[in-house]
Amino acid sequence: MEHELYLEKLKSSINILSDILDTENYGMCIVDRQGRIVVWNYERFFHLRASEVLGKPVTEVLENTRLHIVAKTGKKELFQLQKINGTNVIANRIPILYHGEIIGAAGTIIFKDTRELGELYSRIEKVENSFKAYRSEIAQMYRAKYTFNDIHTENDKMISLKEFCQVVAQSDASILIRGESGTGKELFAQAIHNGGASASYPFISIDCAAIPKKQLEAELFGYEGTLFNGGETKIGKLELADQGTVFLDELGSMSLDMQAKLLRVLETREFEKSGSNKKTVFKARVIAATNEDLEKAIEEKRFRRDLYYRINVIPVQIPPLRERMNDLPRLCRVLIPHSRYGYSRKNLNVADSTMKILFQHSWPGNVRELRNVLERAAIVCSSQEILPEHLPEYLQKYNSGPANADGKSAYRQEIENLERRLIQNALQNNHGNKMEAARQLGIQRSLLYKKISDLDIKTDYSK
Ligand SMILES: Nc1ncnc2c1ncn2[C@@H]1O[C@H](COP(=O)(O)OP(=O)(O)OP(=O)(O)O)[C@@H](O)[C@H]1O
Ligand SMILES: [Mg+2]
Repeated sequence: MEHELYLEKLKSSINILSDILDTENYGMCIVDRQGRIVVWNYERFFHLRASEVLGKPVTEVLENTRLHIVAKTGKKELFQLQKINGTNVIANRIPILYHGEIIGAAGTIIFKDTRELGELYSRIEKVENSFKAYRSEIAQMYRAKYTFNDIHTENDKMISLKEFCQVVAQSDASILIRGESGTGKELFAQAIHNGGASASYPFISIDCAAIPKKQLEAELFGYEGTLFNGGETKIGKLELADQGTVFLDELGSMSLDMQAKLLRVLETREFEKSGSNKKTVFKARVIAATNEDLEKAIEEKRFRRDLYYRINVIPVQIPPLRERMNDLPRLCRVLIPHSRYGYSRKNLNVADSTMKILFQHSWPGNVRELRNVLERAAIVCSSQEILPEHLPEYLQKYNSGPANADGKSAYRQEIENLERRLIQNALQNNHGNKMEAARQLGIQRSLLYKKISDLDIKTDYSK
């Protein structure tokens, strides 16, 4: 056949060539399309004569060979490290074409400096191993703390939302979590990450509102060392998150040009570090959160509609606390910081009268506000019960003591009267000198001014 003739011709040319080439360190082997050896120029290296191997499948003769594969794929492989009999050699594998058809493959190996190569190889192996170790360390460093067990609720809507999220955690679709400030968006994002297949990989949180616009790109994509940045290299968060989750917090604050760049990453699933033209594969789940009205932002051209559709594959809306007030008692139980205040505070409870007040508030700061109120109360309270007086002043207005005409409780009124009397006396004693009066009262001058204005106190005692 024609192409066999061609191979024959090739063989004789190679025999001539091998007389010229550096045959001490250099060898060649040719296989036909079926991967059978037709030229064997490796005698020196493997102590196998051509007559012993010609016609045999190369896979039976050479360790780790890929010549039979190249003879099928037609794709050349250059400068590959190949381990043969415990030695590393550099192998080139080139398909042989005849009139555009693959008829075989030629392999060359270079045996020179193999010891050095071997050292290089083991160094690479070491780097690869430590790379693997760093990877798992990164995953440890960027762990998501919360799981679905940390989302406490007794509200039907929240219970089904939790169940829904437990199901979507199994997929890798993008999720957009929405809800007012302090409703638990980050808590849900972490729980979803931990509930899915990527739990052992990093959870990387990026606060799009907190990072200055100019830095966000470097944060996300990283950069490669160049002459202009002194050779410094930074791994971007998209790369750190590999196989895990990228949590884009406050997505609504992202600038339009960053939105365009992010959209490209999500569509092409790859990105370029700045200063490099190499593409890095993006392989992480995206969870975004916002408390902004994105639809309005789209109308006002502050948010890209196409990015919105890309990310809003699974929308998760967390209801505000005021729409699930039956969660209050349970949240109080889990959010009171018992342990930090020692054994004696172990059974710190919320008194009924206090709970009544908590039920009247509308909680604009949601669960975070509740947590802060309870933390403060645990500090100022010395008994086993959090009483209304342990709540911050702005909640005292709900205190259900008998209210008088202007809505103040009798308790508050009494306190105000006492304060007014004390301040009036101090001012009188000091002939209206506020600095002296504040000193006598042992309070800051600014507080005295505030009290004078709040309590509407006459200050002219000078005459
Ligand atoms: N259902 C819940 N059970 C227990 N703790 C909760 C719950 N919801 C929220 N928290 C707690 O409330 C605090 C606020 O939650 P988180 O940070 O997730 O809110 P957010 O929606 O991300 O707020 P922001 O919009 O201000 O960033 C956290 O300390 C969180 O642990
Ligand atoms: Mg948050």
